Amino acid sequence: MRILSIETSCDETGITIIEASGAFGADFRFTVLGDALLSQAALHAPHGGVFPNLARREHEINLVPLLTRALDDSGMRTSGVTDTSGLSKILARETELLPQLTAFLETHAKPDIDAIAVTHGPGLEPALWVGVNFAKALAEAWQLPLVPVNHMEGHIILSAVSGQENSNTQESKIKPLGFPLLSLLISGGHTELLLSKKWMHYTLIGQTRDDAVGEAFDKVARLLDLPYPGGPEIDRLASQARNEGFTKSFTLPRPMIDTDDYDFSFSGLKTAVRRVVESNTPLTENMKMEIAREFEDACADVLITKTMKAIEEFGVETVLVGGGVSANEQIRMRLAAAIKDYGYDTKLLIPPRELSTDNALMIALAGYFRALNKEFAEPETIRANGNLKLV
Ligand code: KG4
Ligand code: ZN
Repeated sequence: MRILSIETSCDETGITIIEASGAFGADFRFTVLGDALLSQAALHAPHGGVFPNLARREHEINLVPLLTRALDDSGMRTSGVTDTSGLSKILARETELLPQLTAFLETHAKPDIDAIAVTHGPGLEPALWVGVNFAKALAEAWQLPLVPVNHMEGHIILSAVSGQENSNTQESKIKPLGFPLLSLLISGGHTELLLSKKWMHYTLIGQTRDDAVGEAFDKVARLLDLPYPGGPEIDRLASQARNEGFTKSFTLPRPMIDTDDYDFSFSGLKTAVRRVVESNTPLTENMKMEIAREFEDACADVLITKTMKAIEEFGVETVLVGGGVSANEQIRMRLAAAIKDYGYDTKLLIPPRELSTDNALMIALAGYFRALNKEFAEPETIRANGNLKLV
């Protein structure tokens, strides 16, 4: 089955084409045929965060060039003509996208694709709508079925697939995973622990009560005058602090580390950082590094403590980590070390760093497995939902 996927939930625009076959845990294989990703991070940086209307407009402008690139990559670019008569109704609000897509379709016939997968949530609704309407327009023009995908399931499935040692993006054969399976989702909008007794069935066992961990990284970065997105900056400064062997001059709290549940809280941690910043103004470069390290240690401590507790309580055989914060070097390393130190033979899967943040491959993979279950949706029923839940 060939899937073309579209991701526009935040500030990355992505289009990927994969060819996949088989069932997970049995004979699943996939090949990436074409892949095009564009980050808007530099455009949003001056705003200190993602500006939804700017993201929306950028997705509109970038989707057709990325589609062209993904099709070129895969050698699937066609000549010919597609009927565009239904387009102006579907893309009535996408005034930048409509003329570009119309011009493209007037010179391209339907490529050899079986279904279109699109992120319909969670994320920024104005941004999500662009991808959803683009998917509906392509599905209508090329008469293809549509698969709506939950972005967070994309992170989970990508981790299951790309976290395996034998995987590469050319052709990947995926080994079966042991259950129960625990997913630790750590991104800009989510901090969740989900338990699965079966592939693609989830129970939420814990989540943040306020800020997501990635949001805390971004807010703390702002307090330290570091550019958006803050996660990679804090990662870099913290490892510099570790390399230089700084001694600690203060301690930040580890919120909810000892509570008898799987919930998290990161907003108090950010407030504690604010206090340290205020009492040390103007901040020296060394102090910034020290704060970055202690903040990262505090986040890693609570994330790892709760993950280990869940592994023990539920007899977890596989841990998947997904979402942008899974790119964090310290969290990756310490989680692997904790599982080893506890003597568990739990398998830990984390995507390679370059696939940890948003991309369209994750949507293609999740879309494939949903399509395999015949979970197609009528175009008129698909809506962007900023708060879409997995469970
Ligand atoms: O999954 P993602 O790309 O977008 C959402 O779905 O939210 O995650 C983005 C988040 C941002 O908060 C960003 O600061 C954080 O992931 N992030 C990191 C790192 N790279 C990205 N946080 C910590 N360390 C990193 N290396
Ligand atoms: Zn994400």
